[in-house]
Amino acid sequence: MAATERSPAIRLLTAADLDAAVELSASAHWNQNRADWRTMLQLGQGWGLDGVDDAGREVLAASVVVLPYGTAFAWTSMVLVLPAFQRRGYARQLLRHALAHLGAQGRAAILDATPAGHAVYVQEGFADTWGFARYRREAGAALTRRPNGLPTRPLTDRDWPAIEALDTPAFGASRLPLLQSLAQRWPQAARVVEAGGRLRGYVLGRDGREAGQIGPLLAKDDDVAIALLAHALHAEPGALYVDLLDSRRSLLPWLEQAGFVFQRPFTRMVHGTRSAPGDPAAIVLAAGPELG
Ligand SMILES: CC(C)(COP(=O)(O)OP(=O)(O)OC[C@H]1O[C@@H](n2cnc3c(N)ncnc32)[C@H](O)[C@@H]1OP(=O)(O)O)[C@@H](O)C(=O)NCCC(=O)NCCS
Repeated sequence: MAATERSPAIRLLTAADLDAAVELSASAHWNQNRADWRTMLQLGQGWGLDGVDDAGREVLAASVVVLPYGTAFAWTSMVLVLPAFQRRGYARQLLRHALAHLGAQGRAAILDATPAGHAVYVQEGFADTWGFARYRREAGAALTRRPNGLPTRPLTDRDWPAIEALDTPAFGASRLPLLQSLAQRWPQAARVVEAGGRLRGYVLGRDGREAGQIGPLLAKDDDVAIALLAHALHAEPGALYVDLLDSRRSLLPWLEQAGFVFQRPFTRMVHGTRSAPGDPAAIVLAAGPELG
């Protein structure tokens, strides 16, 4: 029997949905774990559609999440539909619900599209801006590149004002609660480079369902970015993802020598505004398509 044909109602996702939400993102081989979903549902809002699968189980069949940043925009993410429920309009229905919610708040919707999602978003009026690409390093890959000698140090609570001052114009809005939650999840990856009493860059990381992720990483200069990356890779010998902005491909040879291999491209898309917020010149690694 095929998955049920009844037309479900959109409902709000809560902490009670965390296991089902991880099952849903795992069905697309995505890396989010319970902590990721918990953070997104705490800082933002999610909606889902339920269904009954081929085994007769009640399942969370589809999801969408919005994460407000400042007053002008919200990230729109976790647009996921279980394979057995695809091509029934579930993604379109949830996306329209999220867009109506954001429209009522006067917010633009920003997202990072996979090639699969791109087809859905274009039809709903999203437009392309810049892009980035995901790379993966397997566990145990030897780090043949030495750190470049630029000192990094652990991030401390005193760094947050300077991090916010670097991050907000680059990202387009303050996202301090998110950054602070990431720093708590993987303190071993949270580092800064400071020179002449000025913060020149920072990096954060987090655990994931099947690999860690390094990012966001902000630094205007490549040598600062390399110092932060080298530290993060030494601190985390396990499998890792990074989402490198196309505008910072000058760092790709370094990443490839560190064992990173191309996975897939993402396109930053906007709805309700003409361009992506912020100025990505200082962004090296995005936080990830689900966070911005
Ligand atoms: C992408 C995804 C969310 C689409 O979900 P869905 O519920 O099947 O999409 P919908 O049925 O609402 O599709 C709406 C329209 O988008 C287009 N579309 C959807 N999936 C498509 C695909 N695989 N290829 C081409 N066009 C597609 C179609 O035009 C479709 O309308 P139609 O079926 O009337 O022709 C789903 O395939 C999925 O979960 N993929 C894995 C995770 C992912 O990549 N998510 C996107 C994150 S950015």
